[in-house]
Amino acid sequence: MEIPDGLIEPNKNAPFGFSLDFFYGYLWKEKNSIYLSLIISRYPGKGNFKKLVNSILLSGFTCKVPNPLFIMKYILEKWGFKKTYEYVEIAGEDVEVYTKK
Ligand SMILES: CC(C)(COP(=O)(O)OP(=O)(O)OC[C@H]1O[C@@H](n2cnc3c(N)ncnc32)[C@H](O)[C@@H]1OP(=O)(O)O)[C@@H](O)C(=O)NCCC(=O)NCCS
Repeated sequence: MEIPDGLIEPNKNAPFGFSLDFFYGYLWKEKNSIYLSLIISRYPGKGNFKKLVNSILLSGFTCKVPNPLFIMKYILEKWGFKKTYEYVEIAGEDVEVYTKK
């Protein structure tokens, strides 16, 4: 099923298993990229975030996390995400985006 560009909120029908049972936060689809924003794992350390990221990558999308902090940055670096910069219109500046294809 084609996923339309735009906001993907966590719910039982959301793609990539992005269920409110496991996460707070939201995804944003733009062409072939899925952005992960303000993700909080409801049961940290149980592998749910790993399943989400693998599902996005295995579906053929580029996975992008803007401005990761603390443990999130550590995890993404461990998984080989690359630090890139993207211009964000509403911020009026470049923002750090961790990216993996
Ligand atoms: C960051 C976060 C979303 C990760 O979700 P999660 O469901 O706990 O992640 P997983 O259980 O899938 O684990 C992913 C990897 O991180 C490791 N990991 C998870 N929690 C860890 C911790 N506290 N310390 C070190 N490593 C940790 C896991 O071992 C796993 O590594 P592996 O690939 O070698 O097996 C979660 O820790 C969280 O909600 N943190 C608080 C909110 C937050 O910081 N959000 C990010 C804002 S930018």
